[in-house]
Amino acid sequence: MLNWDEPLSPQAPRAPESALEAPVINTEPAVTPLVREIPLDDTGAGEISQTASAPLTAKPINPEDKRVVNGLADINQLAPFKYPWAWEYFLNANKNHWTPLDINMTQDVHDFQHKLTLEERHVYENVLSYLTTSDILAMRNIGLAVMEKMSAPELQIYQARQVYEEAMHTWTYQHCIESLGLDQGEIYNRYRVVPEIHHKIQMCNRRLDSVLRADIDLTDRDELENFVLAYTFFAGVFEGTWFYNGFSPIFALQRRGLMKGTAEQFQYIMRDEVLHASFGIRVCKQIVLEENIKLDPKVIQQMWEEAEAAEMQYANYLLPDPILGYSAEDHLAQFRFIANRRANKLNHAIPFPGAENALPWLDEQANLKKEKNFFETRVTEYQTGGALNWD
Ligand SMILES: [Fe+2]
Ligand SMILES: [Fe+2]
Repeated sequence: MLNWDEPLSPQAPRAPESALEAPVINTEPAVTPLVREIPLDDTGAGEISQTASAPLTAKPINPEDKRVVNGLADINQLAPFKYPWAWEYFLNANKNHWTPLDINMTQDVHDFQHKLTLEERHVYENVLSYLTTSDILAMRNIGLAVMEKMSAPELQIYQARQVYEEAMHTWTYQHCIESLGLDQGEIYNRYRVVPEIHHKIQMCNRRLDSVLRADIDLTDRDELENFVLAYTFFAGVFEGTWFYNGFSPIFALQRRGLMKGTAEQFQYIMRDEVLHASFGIRVCKQIVLEENIKLDPKVIQQMWEEAEAAEMQYANYLLPDPILGYSAEDHLAQFRFIANRRANKLNHAIPFPGAENALPWLDEQANLKKEKNFFETRVTEYQTGGALNWD
């Protein structure tokens, strides 16, 4: 049973919220290392240097020296862990193995050509167009801007898996676009010519550009705060809310028996994204704790309100008129409801008080109702969240 807000809780012991409470595991080497204390060179490096470029040294690392950013513990040494929960994320992510080629799109091709209305095709194409651009961006953010700044390897390892998953998601959209015979040049260019899609992507690019710089120095408090804000945006807003919300129009079609192959792939993606958002939120909270950062509540509220305004424009473009069972109003109400969940996990003030669950069927619809077995040899692949508890 997967809890979408605490996706690892059923499988793993609940990890503490702060490093101060963290059970430190294996903090002492089981055996005395067979390494002699050797004098370092005459550079005055002193006792022990444990940076990644350190020469052969004698003392084992102390995991308590690890930090999320700006740490000096040897980045090439995975364990002992300081953040055992990060390793649990990695192990759980590896339970969700699939490729788009596992999904038969034959019925989707028929649905798209013969069953969808023009309005539903408009929704479907633009959802794909927005998501495929977003997932490229997500890959670049985590792989190029975030991962390199982590100074504990157990964090980087999960993020490496995340980079792969974002690439897989992009493959999924391409699989759908190819299977349906859509015009790739037109679909992939849409974010550049449709202002309502472009605006959301621009908001992401602005955050990404501010942290994807060679000269960034996270020992500078302003830079560090900006980095946390950017990662918070990507985990809480972009992955945790926009992505999550972005799949729901397709689940509305699925609910009516339409585009089921696409929707099934989106269910797998959603499972990944729930982990991405949850992990990112946890990392951000850890940085705030370790570095004693005080984020300005007004800046946070502004972030959520900007995200809401962009989502409203997007929803009105996507759904100028409702399709059967789904409207722009539903979409936006759901955005606010999910945003409150993410804000709560981030220890932010609730940005949209009073927001209610506008799509009560969504939790169940997005659930994978049974263990999937594509091939006889793959019986136990979908362990994470075979059934879901959204609370
Ligand atoms: Fe993704
Ligand atoms: Fe993601």
